Amino acid sequence: MATDAGEPIPRFPAGFLWGVSTSAHQIEGAADEREASVWDVFTAEPGRVKDGSTAAVACDHYHRHTEDVALLAGLGVDAYRFSVSWPRVNSPGGLDFYDRLVDELCAAGVRPVPTLFHWDLPASLDWLERDTAARFADHVGVVAERLGDRVGKWITLNEPAEHTLLGHALGAHAPGRRLLFDALPVAHHQLLAHGLAVRALRAAGARDIGIANSHGPTWAASAEPADLEAAGFYDLLLNRLFAEPVILGAYPEGIGDLMPGDVQADLKVIAEPLDFYGVNYYAPTRVGAPQGTETEFGGLTIPAELPFSVREIEGRPVTDFGWPVVPEGLTELLTGFRDRYGDRLPPVVITENGCSYEGVDDQERIAYLDAHVRALHTALEAGVDVRGYFVWSLMDNFEWAEGYARRFGLVHVDFTDPAGPRRTPKASYHWFRDVLRAQR
Ligand code: NOJ
Repeated sequence: MATDAGEPIPRFPAGFLWGVSTSAHQIEGAADEREASVWDVFTAEPGRVKDGSTAAVACDHYHRHTEDVALLAGLGVDAYRFSVSWPRVNSPGGLDFYDRLVDELCAAGVRPVPTLFHWDLPASLDWLERDTAARFADHVGVVAERLGDRVGKWITLNEPAEHTLLGHALGAHAPGRRLLFDALPVAHHQLLAHGLAVRALRAAGARDIGIANSHGPTWAASAEPADLEAAGFYDLLLNRLFAEPVILGAYPEGIGDLMPGDVQADLKVIAEPLDFYGVNYYAPTRVGAPQGTETEFGGLTIPAELPFSVREIEGRPVTDFGWPVVPEGLTELLTGFRDRYGDRLPPVVITENGCSYEGVDDQERIAYLDAHVRALHTALEAGVDVRGYFVWSLMDNFEWAEGYARRFGLVHVDFTDPAGPRRTPKASYHWFRDVLRAQR
């Protein structure tokens, strides 16, 4: 896979931002010290999470943040992407926690990069309601007011595509709805929330704002028209539905008519100019015509009713999650975006990239990350304006419907230690530290 492994990684431009990412619900724990989110409700329902676990304790980052900031400092990252839990901010002491975290990060020389929504919606709210977008903007204003003197870089939403598809169309994530295409308003309301949040951030003086969308090349199962059509539709859902309103101020053809409200007026809000466009990349997807049965891939079941099916990508190593390892997919994705959107594409930041593997001597993760960093450099050489790269994740954490079974961390977490979740840096932590040192 990583044919260049062993050769030094090429130099990235001065000022390139190196970081790691996490999210609140996946690491914080201390669930009894905040109000409930849709994820607390969902994980309490039997059968929702594969190993039956919850994120009530998770990495206990809420109580161990000082140790985690020390791990970040030891790693030598420029920046740390974390998320601010809306239910926590609604609870006594919640904003104080993020205030302290931001202070600690600044003291350690690590730039805080908060994401303002990473799926843990307050349980009392619902993205099917338009009003949730306005409520989000109010919440963002409160957070920006408190942290804006020290936070320079902001991310509005994380992967609204997955939150819509997995959470509201397929029911595999919280809030567990299976609405199929009736989930489209959830997409529109999150996009509106994004636009309103950009306005709230600007009003509070913020100058470096982006979104984190998940993307990956869609490969058609064959050149047959039915496969091409299915792949084109999947590409629209994953790569265009959440990108084009933000980048171009328009929905892909035919989609705007399916959305609620005054869509043209909303698109003006959604298309507020951004300073960067965040891309979460893991793998490409091979897609073909529907097969009349469910298809299953990498932990996800695609119902027979959908107008596409997901196929295996053969001849590639796979991670423990069953996701294929395709580093050049990252180059293909980024050059494709540049070709599709030209000058309208803001500078790109890779806001997540990573893989799940067991073990502390995680040579496979090193190979994966090494190859992806090189693939990113190839995109830079091809003229794509990429400004940063964040590894998912700093540490093993609660991987949503998979529970603790998938380990994406550079730091291993033993969730069974009687003294509480215990951190041990993996081989990949030391590898990434050395990569960063060599880039200085
Ligand atoms: C995307 C999500 O943003 C993150 O929460 C998740 O853990 C990783 N991908 C890995 O699946």
